[in-house]
Amino acid sequence: MSNVRFYQREEQVPLEMHKVRVVQKLFLLPVEERLKKIQEAGNNTFLLQNKDIYMDMITDSGVNGMSDRQVAAMSVADDSYAGSETFNRVKAAVYEVFGTENVLPAHQGRAAENILAEAYVKPGMYTLMNFHFTTTKAHITRLGGEVIELVDKKGLIPQTDDPFKGDFDLRLLRKTIKELGPEKVAFVRVEAGTNLIGGQPVSLENMLAVTDICHEFGIRSVLDASLLQDNVYFMKTREPRCKYMTTKEIYHILADRFDIIYFSARKLGFSRGGIITAHDKRFTDEMMEFVPLYEGFLTYGGMEVRSMEAMAVGLLESLDMEYISQGPEFIAYLVDELDKYGVPVIKPAGGLGAHLNCSEIVPDIPHNQYPAAAVGAALYIASGIRGMERGTVSEQREPDGTERYAELELQRLAMPRRVFTLSQVKYCADRVKWLYDNRSLIGGLEWVEEPKVLRFFFGRMKEIGYWQEDLAKKFREDFGDSL
Ligand code: F0G
Repeated sequence: MSNVRFYQREEQVPLEMHKVRVVQKLFLLPVEERLKKIQEAGNNTFLLQNKDIYMDMITDSGVNGMSDRQVAAMSVADDSYAGSETFNRVKAAVYEVFGTENVLPAHQGRAAENILAEAYVKPGMYTLMNFHFTTTKAHITRLGGEVIELVDKKGLIPQTDDPFKGDFDLRLLRKTIKELGPEKVAFVRVEAGTNLIGGQPVSLENMLAVTDICHEFGIRSVLDASLLQDNVYFMKTREPRCKYMTTKEIYHILADRFDIIYFSARKLGFSRGGIITAHDKRFTDEMMEFVPLYEGFLTYGGMEVRSMEAMAVGLLESLDMEYISQGPEFIAYLVDELDKYGVPVIKPAGGLGAHLNCSEIVPDIPHNQYPAAAVGAALYIASGIRGMERGTVSEQREPDGTERYAELELQRLAMPRRVFTLSQVKYCADRVKWLYDNRSLIGGLEWVEEPKVLRFFFGRMKEIGYWQEDLAKKFREDFGDSL
C-alpha cells in the first residue's frame, strides 16, 4: 500500500503495490449445496473442503501470496541433511531483521512452542502472557504448567478507539509476579498482534515495560513474533515515537530487549516453518537438544528447504511497509464497511482479519450453544466464505468437564496477505450485512462428536432445530437465481 490519494472519490481505497501473476480458479456453490456441505462438515469450517469454498478466510497462516522473489529463491534451495546453504540464508535473514545470531529451526510455530515449553515449563509453574494462543496454552498445560492472562481490560472491550488493545496490565503483571514468586514463573510471553482478541497490537512502550519488569525480577521474556509484521505496522502508524523509526529499527529494539523470540513463518515471512532466535546463546543452547528430537537436524528442523528459501526472502519483505501494510489496510477497509452497515465488529481494526462480535449479533444464543460457531456456519451458507470460530468452541473444557466460556465470542474472517481483491472484500462485507439483517434466523449448535484436545479443529456439531434450512430458503427468496 502506498500513500496515493484518489481524485474522484471521497473515501480512501487501499491501493495494492503489487500485481497478481499466478491465479487460482474459485468456485461458488449454490446456497442449497452450501447448506449440504456445512452440515456434512459437522458445522465445523475446518472440516469443509477447499473446493467448496469461495473465499477462504479461515486463516492467514501459510496461505499468503508469494512474491516473484520468493518463488525464484525456492529454485536455488540447497537440500542437504546437515549444513545446508539454505539454512545459512535463513540465518542471514533473521540477522538482518532481528540482529540476532542464534537461530533454531522448527517445522512451524507450535513446534517452536513445544520446544520452549519442554525447556522451561515444569509442573506447578506459571507462564504469564497478555493473552493465550490455543496451541501455546495446550503445550504449557500438557506439561503441568498454568497460563495466566494479564491483558489490560481495554483489550476485552469489543469496541473502543484504543490503538493498542493487546497491551499488558503492567501493574497486574508486577503484582502477579510478586504473589507467585519469580521462581515459579517459567517465562513471560508477549504475543504481538494478540490473535484471540481480534489481532490487537501491543505498543512498543508496553513491550519495553514488560521486558523491564522481567529483568527486574530475573524472569525470561519471550516474544511471540508470529503476528509482529502487523504489529510493527500499527506501531509505525499509531504510536508517535515509532513514526520516524524504520521498521528495522523497531524489530531490532525488540530483539535487543526480549530474551527469546519465536515465530510461525507461516505468518511472519509469508512462507512455512518456524524459528526460535536469541542474542544470548545460553537460551538457544537450553532449547537446542529438543530440535533434533522433535523436529529434525539443526539446519532444517523439519522444514522443507524450498519453504526455508521463501522464508528468508519473506522475512526481508517483512521490513517493507508497502508489503506489510497490505493486510492491515484491507482489514481496515472491511471493518469500516461492516461498521457502516451497523454490523458489530471488533474495533479498532487490528491485524490478521476482521472479527465479528457474535455475542452482539446473536445475543439470544447462549455460550453453550456456541454463538460464534453458529454465525460461522450461517456465513458459509450465506456466502461460501469460510471463517474461523474464535469463541467458546476454541476454548478447552475445565479439568472437571465444565465449559470455559470465552471472554469474546468472535467469528474471525482472516485476510491472507496479497491474495484477495477489493471486489472480493466488498462481496464479503455485502454478505455479512445480509446475514446480519437476517440474524433472527440464526440458531444454536450442539455437539455430536467432541474431542478432548483442541476440539475446534475436528469436533462435529449439528443445528438445534431447522434454522439452517430456513436461512437457505430466505437467501433464495432474497437473491433469486444469484449464487
Ligand atoms: N502464535 C500465534 C500468535 C499464532 O497466531 C499461531 C498460529 C501460532 C503461534 C502457531 O503457529 O500455526 O505455525 O503452528 N496461528 C494460526 C492462525 C494457526 O490461524 O491464527 P503455527
